[in-house]
Amino acid sequence: MSLPPKPASRPDKVSLWRYARLFRADILSAQPARLYRAWMAEFRTPFFRSYLMNQPELIKTVLKDRPDDFPKSDRIGEGLRPLLGNSVFLTNGDTWKRQRRIIDPAFEGGRLRETFPAMWEAAEAAAERLAPHAGQVIEIEAETSHAAADVIFRTLFSIPIEHHLAREVFEEFKTYQRSQPLLNLAAFVPLPRWMPRFFRRGTKASAARIRRLITALTKGRMEEIAAGTAPDDLATKIMTTADPVTGARFDTEEMVDQVAIFFLAGHETSASALAWTLYLLATHPDWQDRLAEEAQVLETCDFAVMSKLRLSRDVFREALRLYPPVPMMVRESTCPERFRDRDVKPGAQLVLSPWHLHRHERLWDNPDGFDPARWGTENGQKCQREAYIPFSAGARVCTGAGFAMVEGPLILSRILRDYRVAAVPGRVPVPVAHLTVRSERGIWLQLTRR
Ligand code: HEM
Repeated sequence: MSLPPKPASRPDKVSLWRYARLFRADILSAQPARLYRAWMAEFRTPFFRSYLMNQPELIKTVLKDRPDDFPKSDRIGEGLRPLLGNSVFLTNGDTWKRQRRIIDPAFEGGRLRETFPAMWEAAEAAAERLAPHAGQVIEIEAETSHAAADVIFRTLFSIPIEHHLAREVFEEFKTYQRSQPLLNLAAFVPLPRWMPRFFRRGTKASAARIRRLITALTKGRMEEIAAGTAPDDLATKIMTTADPVTGARFDTEEMVDQVAIFFLAGHETSASALAWTLYLLATHPDWQDRLAEEAQVLETCDFAVMSKLRLSRDVFREALRLYPPVPMMVRESTCPERFRDRDVKPGAQLVLSPWHLHRHERLWDNPDGFDPARWGTENGQKCQREAYIPFSAGARVCTGAGFAMVEGPLILSRILRDYRVAAVPGRVPVPVAHLTVRSERGIWLQLTRR
């Protein structure tokens, strides 16, 4: 069985200029192959240093043990700030802590059970949308993106993607993504901080349109809450939760910031993961058949069914290992550090790369192979604890991690219950990192009814 697609690495030594150019094309292929073996690597630029860290102990220090000393680098948000404002994804310190205290209860376990019917409806709708395409070759990212956007609107605002405001947000996001600079880019390329950043034409206008639409949804919900007619969904939960420390609630503006990030972080990532999972199954028909068999349990909407989708979870987890939707994260050091006998100065950019960590040759057995059974092995379990961070880790772990681990396997199984997917000869997807890890020219699959 051939290995799942992996982008070619660049030669070890290139000029800074060539590096920056490669970077503009794609951050994955801009990196040298040694990053799949190194514990730590240093990148020198004329203005600052960045360090890529693969050693599990170092990652633990930064993400879990001392997160307050390694805030999110604000370089990361440069391309996203017009859209996301003061959203929890970009804030640091006390503001971030207050926001998480209000948001986290909406995503905890018990709440997921209540959210489940909305996810189930979205999975049903996704399977129905595929029906006219049976017997055809289709681009599956467009379908998974549609499905994941539907999940967000149904769970957050109790409306399906067909609702005019939901549809407009979804369409406008596609325009925004085409126009905005790549996430992470500014964290690596040698631009000094004082240099003005230019957004591509249309980015700001597009962000303003999205925010207007989300504001309409949020204001409408404020009125429903005041009138006592609001549905009991995630938006209502978040908007009525008071911070246990200060007693404050989100005002409209701050809620709009959060809705924007839920939509962006919640749909792009899940869409990418689902599309890659379907491709991996198209190229591993034995696993696909096993999942289809397991999916027979999907009959009526009952949260208990999730405990029966074991293989589906293992496969989804393996896809998140090989194609982590968020390929890299960046933090900034605030005090002098000594990491692996190197002095790391305040202001240095620390890059944590799920992409490299998940394929690290000194940690994983068969690092580039697709093997969902690995999670039952000693090596797989050790690596899952120490070298697997598709949702990050520690205090700043993805708020939607539990949500995504229900949504992903559910939609996957629901599709495979009714359909078979097969790879299309000559159309091997090439992973590239844009906002999330996507395929350069889409992921094309042959769809047939089971
Ligand atoms: C497969 C799906 C998903 C993946 C792989 C994923 C991954 C991640 C990662 C790696 C981060 C940390 C980024 C960083 O620290 O730079 C993150 C943060 C975040 N994610 Fe997710 N995510 C997924 C789904 C979701 C969903 C469904 C939601 C919400 C509905 C969500 C909401 C968030 C939010 C709000 C943050 C910011 C947390 C903070 O900084 O405190 N994500 N996600």
